[in-house]
Amino acid sequence: MSKQAKIEWLVNAFFNGDPSVVENLESYWHNDQAIQKLHDEFIENTITNFYVPLGVAPNFKINGKMYCVPMAIEESSVVAAAAKSAGFWKDRGGFKATVIDTCKIGHVHFFWNGSNPKVLYEWFEKNKAVFTEQTKVLTANMEARGGGMKSVKLINKNHLEEGYFQLEARFETVDAMGANFINSCLEQLSKTLETELSGSDLADCDKEVEIVMCILSNYTPECIVKVEVSCPVDELTIGENVEPIDFAEKFIRAIRIANIEPYRATTHNKGIMNGIDSVALATGNDFRAIEACAHAYASRDGQYKSLTNATIDSDNTFRFWIEVPMALGTVGGITKLHPTVKFCHELLGRPGAEELMMIVAATGLAQNFGAVRSLVTTGIQKGHMKMHLLNILNQLEATDQEKEIIRKEFETKTVSHKAVVDAFCSLRGIKSDHKTLKGK
Ligand code: MEV
Repeated sequence: MSKQAKIEWLVNAFFNGDPSVVENLESYWHNDQAIQKLHDEFIENTITNFYVPLGVAPNFKINGKMYCVPMAIEESSVVAAAAKSAGFWKDRGGFKATVIDTCKIGHVHFFWNGSNPKVLYEWFEKNKAVFTEQTKVLTANMEARGGGMKSVKLINKNHLEEGYFQLEARFETVDAMGANFINSCLEQLSKTLETELSGSDLADCDKEVEIVMCILSNYTPECIVKVEVSCPVDELTIGENVEPIDFAEKFIRAIRIANIEPYRATTHNKGIMNGIDSVALATGNDFRAIEACAHAYASRDGQYKSLTNATIDSDNTFRFWIEVPMALGTVGGITKLHPTVKFCHELLGRPGAEELMMIVAATGLAQNFGAVRSLVTTGIQKGHMKMHLLNILNQLEATDQEKEIIRKEFETKTVSHKAVVDAFCSLRGIKSDHKTLKGK
């Protein structure tokens, strides 16, 4: 079916042929047909574009360099919190970031039910070079860029499942996220395994192998970035009524709770991912892979814990840091295709993957600082509802002038859905019907 035919089918099948549905879908098409075609071809069965706001959080000072960070996210308050934290830490030395390692891992998962695993190990050690040799056509380009397949080893997983083995390969993919490269290499490794084993001089019962699958692991605990902020406790001036030391201690308590209580850890890390995912999405990266990896890493000790930590050192320095694995790319995928993604890379000064890892992790840390700061001081709802006020007013279809009047009114009042509806109705001189207006 053509795109038009798909839309027609959809609207007839699910919307009683309502022409306003078609109009709405088409209103989100890009004016420039070539750009729209690009978007159409990113995925399958595209019918329109799905808008998410792109905001910017300025004032990120990372390793002495200033960034204005693009964030694509639908949730209010996230960009404000990141920007506020970035501004706070800019005046206290900024974010200190280090990429600890960039190694990525993939596996050929297979079953071998031969005579003795020792036979397989010995054969593999003797033939290891062939495995590397036969991936050369795939790795040559990556090697020219400083990356490649770094190692392959055989792992016996029989303690988990009888006959289960892996070929585990390690990769350096430089500025690419590398999923395609890694998966292609793994598929080649599996072919080598099959053909070399069957052509070997091993006993017939040792030549049989069943390849189950070849796939990179999105768990990249060896592709890690650490970002830290610190300052003397006395400089933690948060508000007039908050003593820096009280704030620091309460903040550390909150982090401790996220380290010992998975219910809190999940929400705590969700806040971090607000920052991380929004920059990942804006820069065309696979935020699902980053999420999956971060949560697996947060559980590495057997209990799901905070991705951030904080201490007060003996010299009275407050330290707050994040250590998180992150497989990112600044080349490949849609990074050079999607016009807004391209813009975001340019806004960040076209970083390489390692620099982007630091920016993304710093945004996660900033986000977490903002959330925990609010939680242990004013409470989260104060700032959040102020931001949400605009969403409520938009739902009510308030004019710009009405929005401004009501926004001013709520500078000193607590925002709730009912209070905003009441204020709106009183401004318009209409009867306040909370239920009807709520459904709007
Ligand atoms: C909301 O999207 C994120 C927070 O709940 C994070 C947190 O509680 O730390 C505010």
